[in-house]
Amino acid sequence: DVHSYAVDLDVDVAARRLQADVTISAVASQPLAAFNLDMEGFDIVSLEVDGQPAQTSRLAGELQIAPADPIGQGEAFTVHVSYAGSPGGLQADGLLPFALGWQFFDGGAYVASEPDGTSRWLPSNDHPLDKATYVLRVTVDEPYDAACNGLRSETTAPEGRRTFVCEMPQPMATYLATVVIADLELEHAGTAAGVPIRNYFPADMPRTARQEFDRTGEMLEYFTSILGAYPFDAYGVVVAPIELPFALETQTLTLFGIADHYDEGTIAHELAHQWFGNSISLSRWQDIWLNEGFATYASLLWFEHRFGAEPVDTEIHAMYRVLMDSNDGQTMRIGAPPADDLFNRAVYWRGAMTLHALRQEVGDPLFFQILRTYVERFRYGNATTDDFIALVQEISARDLRALFDAWLFQEKVPFMPGWGAEPGF
Ligand code: TRP
Ligand code: ZN
Repeated sequence: DVHSYAVDLDVDVAARRLQADVTISAVASQPLAAFNLDMEGFDIVSLEVDGQPAQTSRLAGELQIAPADPIGQGEAFTVHVSYAGSPGGLQADGLLPFALGWQFFDGGAYVASEPDGTSRWLPSNDHPLDKATYVLRVTVDEPYDAACNGLRSETTAPEGRRTFVCEMPQPMATYLATVVIADLELEHAGTAAGVPIRNYFPADMPRTARQEFDRTGEMLEYFTSILGAYPFDAYGVVVAPIELPFALETQTLTLFGIADHYDEGTIAHELAHQWFGNSISLSRWQDIWLNEGFATYASLLWFEHRFGAEPVDTEIHAMYRVLMDSNDGQTMRIGAPPADDLFNRAVYWRGAMTLHALRQEVGDPLFFQILRTYVERFRYGNATTDDFIALVQEISARDLRALFDAWLFQEKVPFMPGWGAEPGF
């Protein structure tokens, strides 16, 4: 059970090389004669457990560690690992159209790991159940800048170099850790709902493009009003100066790539993930709809707040029609998606529709009470689909298992409550 990661990275962008020192503070949840960390690539320079050199071996993405002395159940211990190498250059592996983990590009580097790319830059217990706090220190050559999760400060560095320190004192799942290195400009955009907003943009990013993020503060205020306090110390985006086909909700600092246009729905979606996915994490990847369905529905709620219920209803009908038309009224079972298709659009859309169906069934007051209670009860922790269903049963005092079964666990897309037999067309 990892409590904290202290990560010290020395990055040579020109040579595309990383040299790292990581200290992991953990507690043994069972007696350990040996244990594994997830780690891919790199050469291990040294590894100590509680200051004593430990034996290591590598096997298929795992770093196996045998400490000099076995660790007793409940005992705290620290692992210090020093390693170096050249990450990245990997091919997309089918789940997503690009490679996960650490990627260098001309002029910098970025990290995008969801779901399982963290081990390609950080030896870790790479599972969202094992959340931990982080301090990331990144040393780069001038003129590079490093953006990373949480509040950032700068500390002294050798001549011609800069060291940035990022602190994440709230629990964070491994896949949400990020570093972006580039010629970046830090922009403070005031505070909203008491939360400082800071963005990192490529130095040459035009003002008009930067302005597309100007509604972030209003969004933060709206989501705070329906969901309760924003769970972290800051929010904002980092735009890496390369094209990326997706945005990623890296904790407190959503990652975008260069684009002609930044979609307001996506900006709201990634912010909503800070509650749904980041503060409340998955317990198992099968429950990915708890992230993507909720963030997608939250972005629809934002549009409802801005433009009223009608355009949102039209949007839900449009998603419904696409799902109905694309495969004879069926999709994958979004409550049990195949491991190689976690980010299928059905997870996003049908997940959002599941919440919309619940809302039609229980009405607005109970629906929003359910969301707020869910956010509060599982804050900084983990939940499962069953946890959410149990909470719905509790708050609504109704048996809605059939609704969840139809929306999450059957291929046939159900009728939306309130749309009638000919669903709304
Ligand atoms: N969670 C992202 C979203 O908001 C999608 C995603 C999954 C992703 N894995 C990623 C984006 C890796 C970028 C990189 O929908
Ligand atoms: Zn998402």
